[in-house]
Amino acid sequence: MITEQDFVFNKVESSFPKKGKFTWKTPSNIALVKYWGKREPQLPENPSISFTLDACFTLTTLEFTKKSSKDIKFEIYFEGKKKDEFKPKIEKFFSRIRQYVPFIAEYDFVIRSRNSFPHSSGIASSASGMAALALCIMSMEKALNPSITDEFFYKKASFLARLGSGSASRSIDGELVVWGKHRDITGSSDLYGVQFPEKIHKNFKNFHDIILLVDEGEKQVSSTIGHDLMHNHPFAEKRFDQAKDNISKLSSVLQNGDLKSFITIVESEALTLHAMMMSSNPYFILMKPNTLHIINKIWEYRAQTNSNVCFTLDAGANVHLLFPEKEKSSVNKFVIRQLIQFCQNNHYICDRVGSGAKQF
Ligand code: PMV
Repeated sequence: MITEQDFVFNKVESSFPKKGKFTWKTPSNIALVKYWGKREPQLPENPSISFTLDACFTLTTLEFTKKSSKDIKFEIYFEGKKKDEFKPKIEKFFSRIRQYVPFIAEYDFVIRSRNSFPHSSGIASSASGMAALALCIMSMEKALNPSITDEFFYKKASFLARLGSGSASRSIDGELVVWGKHRDITGSSDLYGVQFPEKIHKNFKNFHDIILLVDEGEKQVSSTIGHDLMHNHPFAEKRFDQAKDNISKLSSVLQNGDLKSFITIVESEALTLHAMMMSSNPYFILMKPNTLHIINKIWEYRAQTNSNVCFTLDAGANVHLLFPEKEKSSVNKFVIRQLIQFCQNNHYICDRVGSGAKQF
């Protein structure tokens, strides 16, 4: 069993380089069983599982230069522009991870980052963004201690990413990642994400995700506030039990290929996430009228065609349309004929399950 202590860096085998840079491309992910509710330090109240995406990613370069003072100094450029407003989140991330990667205090940093999806699309970039930074820092650790194994490298990257944003722990590996301890998932941990350890049925290989951009604006309620509202939530304990139960059910479904049960679990998870928001104090609604129009169209289409297309939602109004590879052309037609009218500026993104982060 790996403990937090095992992630504390304590061995320098190479001398500290004066300067250098590392670049990682990290995917976004979409949760099938949702993480909603956490405790310090960024530990989940229930386990979650996600598909790693492919087309939606962040590309980040971390440049580092040795310095003498002990404060961590950095600049951040997003899509070529200096972004001081991103600094507080990254400052918090650096201060949280410093005890595990103390060598970062020896350097000044310049972070250059861009997303493959528009920043205003309503797709959260914190998962892919924090995962990219965590991997760049792990590349620094590997340069200082080349003897670390790949397994440790990726586990610790997920552990660090989690301290930046919980769902970022699931943006390191592909194709299905579980974060949070669960008795049915071998090796699972609250500290980091692990690849779903069982053989995945062919029905779930190359699964597609079309992201319908209903509302391209910034979210009105951040996920930090949403997680916090689970603390005194009247249904919290029941919700955490339900999520654990859904992980068990989904684990069997992913192995036996039962697409109809997949739909039931995934859609119920999405609606429950939003039901938690609507029943917290204060309550809030992130869905928009077009979110509901799309959901109704999906249900209608499924009743008429017996298709296996289903939806899930993030903490926002956009709809993720999930479907098997063999329905690719029929669902594409359905989107163009019946769904894009509900997307802001007719915008949508075609994505699919991906294989995880890559170094550049
Ligand atoms: O990682 P955070 O703190 O942004 O929380 C993500 C929460 C959801 O996206 C709503 C669900 C999930 O499991 O990804």
